[in-house]
Parts: sequence; C-alpha cells; structure tokens
Amino acid sequence: IADIHEEKAMHTFVMVVFALVLARQLTMQMMQNPQILAALQERLDGLVGSPSGYMESLPKVVKRRVNALKNLQVKCAHIEAKFYEEVHELERKYAALYQPLFDKRSDIVRAAYEPTDEECEWKPDEEEELTEMKEKAKVEEEKKDEEKEDPKGIPEFWLTVFKNVDLLSEMLQEHDEPILKHLQDIKVKFSDAGQPMSFTLEFHFEPNDFFTNTVLTKTYKMRSEPDESDPFSFDGPEIMGCTGCTIDWVKGKNVTLKTIKKKQKHKGRGTVRTVTKTVPNDSFFNFFSPPEVPESGELDEDSEAVLAADFEIGHFIRERIVPRAVLYFTGEAIEDDDDDVSEPSSVMKSDDALFPNI
Ligand SMILES: *[C@@H]1O[C@H](CO)[C@@H](O)[C@H](O)[C@H]1NC(C)=O
Ligand SMILES: *[C@@H]1O[C@H](CO)[C@@H](O)[C@H](O)[C@H]1NC(C)=O
Repeated sequence: IADIHEEKAMHTFVMVVFALVLARQLTMQMMQNPQILAALQERLDGLVGSPSGYMESLPKVVKRRVNALKNLQVKCAHIEAKFYEEVHELERKYAALYQPLFDKRSDIVRAAYEPTDEECEWKPDEEEELTEMKEKAKVEEEKKDEEKEDPKGIPEFWLTVFKNVDLLSEMLQEHDEPILKHLQDIKVKFSDAGQPMSFTLEFHFEPNDFFTNTVLTKTYKMRSEPDESDPFSFDGPEIMGCTGCTIDWVKGKNVTLKTIKKKQKHKGRGTVRTVTKTVPNDSFFNFFSPPEVPESGELDEDSEAVLAADFEIGHFIRERIVPRAVLYFTGEAIEDDDDDVSEPSSVMKSDDALFPNI
C-alpha cells in the first residue's frame, strides 16, 4: 500500500513539474497565441486537484506543520514588502541625482542650452568607424545642412522616440504627430516619503495651438503589500490604478473626438434627417483619460485590456524611456530590447525583476 501511495505521489509530482516547465516555456508564446493558450489550459485543467491530493495523503501531524510553514511564508511576504518600500526610497533618492542631467538633456533638446564642443565630442565604436563611403556621404550631408535653415535644439526628439518604440507607436495616430512635435520633456516624479506609493509621468509641452496645458500628467498608484486574501501571490509592487488629467483643448482641436453624421428616422412621421454626433476617436491623448475603476472594482473586458496595456506603457516609460531617451531616439536601445526577446535568459533584467508583475 505504501508503494502505491508513493507511486501516486511521484506521479503527481512529475505531472506538476511537467506542468510548471510547460507553463514557463509557453508563457511567452501563449501571450501571443490563443491556440496554445487553450491547449495549455486544457492540460492544466486536467491537473487541478492533483497537488492537493498529495497534501491529503499526508498524516494530520505533518499537515499541521505544513500550515506553520505557510504562516512563516506570509511573514516573509510582509518582510519582502518592506524591502520594496526601501527600494522605492532608494529610487527617490537617486531620482534627485539623475534630475540635473535630465534637465540638461531637456535644455539641449529644446534649444535652451547649446552644448560646448567638448560636451559634443563622442568617440564612435570601432565597428562604426566611418568608411570612405560614409565619409563622402557625411560631407554631402553637411553641405545640405548648411543649405537648410538652422534647426533649433533637437527637433522632434520625443516624437521620434515615440515612433521608435512599438509600444508607443501603436497608440500614435497620424493626427497626434503634429501635437507631439511640441513635447519637450517627460519627467518622472515619485510620491513623497510616507505617502502611498505612486509615480507621476509629466509630459511637458511648449505653447501650441492644440491645448492650453503646459504639462499633462498621468499618475500610477502602486501597492507594495501582500493581499490579505492571497498573500502568496505577492511578488513586489504592483500598479493598482491610474489617473490622467483634463486636457484643455482649443476649440475644434480635440483629436480624441470626431464628429460623425448619422441618418435618423423619425418614428412617427417616417422622415429622415441627418444628425451629427461626436464619438471617441483613436488618439495617443486618450492615454490621459484611462477607464475609471468603479467602486465595485468590476471592469468590463475592454476596460480591463485597456488598463493592462496602460500599466505596461506607464511602467515602460518610467523604467526605460525616461532614463535612456537618447538611446530610443537613436534606436540603440531598441536593438537591446530586441536582444532580450531572442535570448530568454536575459529577459529578466534587474529592473524587471524588481517589478515582475507589472
Ligand atoms: C479621427 O481619427 C482619424 C483617423 O485616425 C483622423 O484622420 C481624424 O483626423 C481624427 N479626427 C479628428 C477630429 O481629429
Ligand atoms: C475632448 O474629447 C473628450 C472625449 O474623447 C471629452 O471627454 C472632452 O470633454 C473633450 N474636451 C474638450 C475641451 O472638448
């Protein structure tokens, strides 16, 4: 009997390990392939209950002790939460050290400061060394440059960054581009010490014909404590929600709205008249009016998908774009990101590891 027991437990164990390995390997593809997702789900459904089957087979006294281990695990989760709070503090501290450099970056981009020759010196990589061909092209380019009128700062810096990053360019509509040409800086502001954990993305615009705001903001509320009802799922800070801001559009410039003409039949008289209706239009600027989470916390599927994508974008802007904007402008950072995808072993970059569930 003991043998059968052992064999059953072993079988269960093997199946669980198999499912975990499978789940790990397929997670990436799964997210893109609904068929694989469905197939995997079927497999996992077949396994539901098996692990608890093993637990049930344990003697009562052992089960009791396992409960003690789980209680220790909950305590660990609470200590981990403290760890992430300190990480947040460190980030706040270092943000202050980065800020003067980011401010200088902004000054150069918007032509408030002309860098010196010394500041502009940059040794190219060996492999990038100019060949004769490139040298020739460069001379021609310089001639062209001289013909063109003198550009100010780095024109369309942030718009180019947006276009170079898939996550952002997917949101970008043609009619957004003339507006984003006026974007001069994106800043990240962390919540103050002692306040609930959050960060705010500030989009700074130069005066423009589209809206009167000079700064558009998007704030992400974070939570860094285990959920009472599910403490073991805790895996670091999570974005819990976000709020945008009101954009004061100049009349007729609201690109998040479009007017459509609709034929309407009068019920009684049967006459047809045309009415104009305003409906939402696709635009990056919808980013500033995310779906609201109702009191009940229940969201429809669409809003849930919009928010999931929104959190990913907010996190990406904070973690990658703002710290290394120039590399997204030149495209160098994009190659790095692509490398990540082709080498699964390097996907867990340190910053992802800190916020793995965002
Ligand atoms: C609505 O979106 C379409 C296509 O995305 C765009 O051509 C149009 O200009 C937008 N409408 C307004 C009023 O901005
Ligand atoms: C712009 O359009 C949005 C809907 O996308 C609407 O909520 C907002 O009130 C409009 N703003 C102005 C100033 O018309």
